[in-house]
Order: sequence, then structure tokens, then C-alpha cells
Amino acid sequence: MSNLHGEPAKPRVMTTKRVMTMKRAGEKIVMLTAYDYLVAKYLDQVGTDIILVGDSLGNVVQGHETTLPVTVDNMIYHAKAVKRAVKNALIVVDMPFMSYQTSVDDAVKNCGRVMKEVGVGAVKLEGGEYVGDIVRHLVKIGIPVMGHLGLTPQAINKFGTYEVRAQEKKEANQLLKDARTLSDAGVFSLVLEKIPASLAKKVTASVPVPTIGIGAGPHCDGQVLVVYDMLGLTEEFKPRFVRRYAELADVMRQAFRQYIGDVRSKKFPTAKESY
Ligand code: KIV
Repeated sequence: MSNLHGEPAKPRVMTTKRVMTMKRAGEKIVMLTAYDYLVAKYLDQVGTDIILVGDSLGNVVQGHETTLPVTVDNMIYHAKAVKRAVKNALIVVDMPFMSYQTSVDDAVKNCGRVMKEVGVGAVKLEGGEYVGDIVRHLVKIGIPVMGHLGLTPQAINKFGTYEVRAQEKKEANQLLKDARTLSDAGVFSLVLEKIPASLAKKVTASVPVPTIGIGAGPHCDGQVLVVYDMLGLTEEFKPRFVRRYAELADVMRQAFRQYIGDVRSKKFPTAKESY
């Protein structure tokens, strides 16, 4: 690939500023999650704009039922592995449950640790108006923040289900208000999870910052999926918003079965595979 002057095109190094200009330019923003070095490396190699070290690692890596047990140390451990692999994408780290909701001071301490110890581009916080002051302060002191509205998994015990959110007018109006508050507070982008497409369209038109949807329809400025879902590794999890781009659970089982068969039947290793 070369530019107009015939020089090799420089890889894009993604920044929060650039993400914001993508909305204005009408360029769709591509985000996927990663929790380890190799997946992050491949995502980065193919030009993913944002790599989210999601606290969904509590579900897909650690095997918990919710994201609540995830700790700041867990996030830092996984984010460091991702960081080692990434050359171009913007890395955003999810702040886990109770690492920022408790006070501005706690948010500064924990988000500051992530920024300082890992060296990523931004953090993500769940929640609406009630995290507005926290977001404003973090942004003011130089910590870029991505917001997250709609289905906020850290609030599962408040809502009781993982159903589509904001289907009623009152909740939809509150979500619109929350989006404006977070935008005014300085978020550089906003994840909208599992809300009606019509509401996501309204939010996207109402705020100057890009919206990144997951189960929020086609009108958002970008899309995100959990990487294990789109690869078909979380095979029992089949919400309609997940498009499976591979069936890796089948591929892995098949490989494991072949290996087991080869070892038991003494076909592995051969002389060629030995020293
Ligand atoms: O934790 C996560 O992976 C997320 C995405 C679903 C947006 O928050």
C-alpha cells in the first residue's frame, strides 16, 4: 500500500482525538475486545481501530457468572499483555466494579494506576449521570474516558436480567439525558449496549462524540463485539446481536480429539518430530 506520493502508507496510530474525527468524517469505528497478547496482535495487524480490554474477561477468561469479581489487578495484568502486542490500535481498559463508583479519589487512584502501569490510551466506565462528575474530573486531569450506557453488566444486580434496556419511554429519555451529560463531561466516545436501534440512532444524532454499539443497531458510529463471541468460542451464548465469524469451539474440539487419538494410538510424535 502506498500514499499519493508513492511512499509506503504509514500505519495509523489511533488516538482518542482521531476516534472523534472519525464520526465527523462518517468513518465507521471498529472495536473488539482482547485479553491476551496473541489475540491483540492479530486484531492490531488487521487494522482494528480500538482494542477494549473488557471486564467481560470475568466471564470469558475467568468463568464467573458476572463481571463483578474482576479486580483492578486483573485488568492491569491482561492489559499489559495486550499492550505488548499492539502497535497501532487505541487500547481502552474497562474499569471494574467498585474501582471508580465509590468516589472521585478512588477513580483517580485506580484509573491513574491503569494509565501509569500499563500505558494505555483511555479507560471505560459504566453508568450515566451519577458518574458525570467522576468523568469530568478524570478528563480534566488527563485521563480520557469512554462511557457505557444501556445494558451495563456491572449493574446486573440492580436490573436482574440481561434483557434489552430502555424500551420504555422513561428509561429511554433518561438514557438520552445520560448520554448528553457524559458528552458534556468530556467522554471521547460512548458504548451503547443492547438498546433499541431507534434510540441508538437518536443518541448518535444528539451527541457530538461517537457512539459504539453492541446490540444497538446499525446507526451507531461504530460497532464492538466480544472477541470470543464473534469467534464462536462462547457457543451457548447466542443473542441475536452476535454475528459469528468463525466456529472456533468446533475447530478446537476437533484439534484436541485428533491429538488425543494420535497420542493414544502412538502416532504422535513421529521420528521426524523427535530429536
Ligand atoms: O466488557 C466488555 O467486553 C464490554 C463490551 C461488551 C463493550 O464492556
